[in-house]
Amino acid sequence: MQQQDVSTEVRLEPLFADRLDQVLLVEQRAYDHPWSRTNFLDVLHSGYHAQILMANDTVLGYFVAMKGVDEVHLLNITVAPEHQGQGLAHTLLDALALWGRYQRAQWVWLEVRVGNQRAMRVYEAYGFRRMGQRKDYYPAGGNLREDALVMSFRL
Ligand SMILES: CC(C)(COP(=O)(O)OP(=O)(O)OC[C@H]1O[C@@H](n2cnc3c(N)ncnc32)[C@H](O)[C@@H]1OP(=O)(O)O)[C@@H](O)C(=O)NCCC(=O)NCCS
Repeated sequence: MQQQDVSTEVRLEPLFADRLDQVLLVEQRAYDHPWSRTNFLDVLHSGYHAQILMANDTVLGYFVAMKGVDEVHLLNITVAPEHQGQGLAHTLLDALALWGRYQRAQWVWLEVRVGNQRAMRVYEAYGFRRMGQRKDYYPAGGNLREDALVMSFRL
């Protein structure tokens, strides 16, 4: 992480459409198969829960989740590449868990590409457990698909 001035204001805030240009720049650098602007607009219009972690006007990371019956489903969690490796995913997961508990959810569910070992390690370190696999869940370039591992965390 870059050395920050003590006056740096680090905060979580709701993700609104006016931040999407910044978010898309991070998204496109973080993934081989990034969400599009339309994907983000769809989830924002659907009222899903989306928060962004900011340091002054710099995007550190963000997540998007939806409420289910007794669970919240994590749809996107991303830390900007230049801020990865500093434990910020943990901060985002804490914010997600806090929101989930206030929704009276009992579980967090997520899918992760079977090839995304780094994310899996982060989730397992946080307390997520492997629940199963969804075959060919993700696009993987060309006609290829990649399986998803389903993980859950008890709130
Ligand atoms: C997965 C992700 C959210 C983790 O966020 P994070 O804040 O970097 O997580 P951490 O700081 O706990 O670091 C996780 C691990 O990645 C390692 N790491 C961080 N940046 C790295 C890099 N550029 N190259 C290789 N390893 C790196 C860390 O050392 C750490 O390893 P460890 O578990 O052995 O200690 C983040 O890497 C990311 O946004 N990746 C791209 C998007 C993505 O895959 N999202 C999840 C989709 S399910």
